[in-house]
Amino acid sequence: MMNRPQFPTTRLRRLRYNAQIRELVAETNVSLNDLVMPLFVTFGENVKQEITSMPGQYRFSVNTLVEKCKLLCMKGIKSVLLFGIPEEKDEHGHLACSENSIVQKAMVALKKELPGLLIIADVCNCEYTTHGHCGTIVDGDVENDSTLKTLAAQSVSLAQAGADIIAPSDMMDGRVKVIREALDEAGFYKVPIMAYSAKFASGFYGPFRDAADSAPAFGNRSTYQMDIRNSNEALREIEQDIAEGADMVMVKPGLAYLDIVARVKENFNIPVVVYNVSGEYSMVKAAAQNGWIDEQRVVMESMISFKRAGADVILTYWAETIADILKE
Ligand code: PBG
Repeated sequence: MMNRPQFPTTRLRRLRYNAQIRELVAETNVSLNDLVMPLFVTFGENVKQEITSMPGQYRFSVNTLVEKCKLLCMKGIKSVLLFGIPEEKDEHGHLACSENSIVQKAMVALKKELPGLLIIADVCNCEYTTHGHCGTIVDGDVENDSTLKTLAAQSVSLAQAGADIIAPSDMMDGRVKVIREALDEAGFYKVPIMAYSAKFASGFYGPFRDAADSAPAFGNRSTYQMDIRNSNEALREIEQDIAEGADMVMVKPGLAYLDIVARVKENFNIPVVVYNVSGEYSMVKAAAQNGWIDEQRVVMESMISFKRAGADVILTYWAETIADILKE
């Protein structure tokens, strides 16, 4: 590397003087192929209920979800991630493991109408437990190993209903291994696991918990989600998940954790997924609604940042907006 300034011979602005040159040398691009749209599905008929804390995002019933996904497919979005908001909850989240559970029903309907749509199923108990925690409570805390059994049962049930990818977001130790074994045993050896590997205990999930009605009734998620101050620990989580059989690893949240994305990309040869979470969405939305920032510019800048940091896949509530922007 040269370390002496070469001006006036070297003028870095030469590559910026017109749009064609800028396009020619651009290092990063965002494609719809890399985006996943998260969607919320709930019970009832003809439900399309806007989420107060996430303007422009909705809770859909199965029939309106199918219509929404048809529209997304027409716009070029190829993958969705489904979250369920069930009618009933229990202490262990067992309701999430049944073919009558809301996400399973939605997947059966989607696979029938839109066989080409890639469906990723979030696996976690928090939307299905009365206490809102991500597993079974013993002595006031989520008990790791009994929760693994529910997660494995939920994963198999989702695969049976048609899930193309299983995405555990609970942060229990050993869940990738147990889910992999359960899937294989049930014959789903072709179904990949997208592990929420480095998932931090973040304030940026606030709007999601409102949307999914999954805020913990007591305490917080600090005994299972990662401490926000740690980066080496994120690499250990990733390493473990890969060893247990993860096919893709995720860093979550996104924008405040791009250092983690970059380190993961540098250290591992595996597709890196980043989750541009609810709080990140709502902050941009609120500022844009106030006319304080240009929504389209900031959305695209955020996506480019994810790609520049090394993300291969981006989960984002902006997926549909981006499809509209790229079409213009
Ligand atoms: C479930 C889950 C959460 C999110 C994805 N899966 C919430 C949480 O951990 O509290 C957050 C997504 C978002 O904020 O957009 N465990």
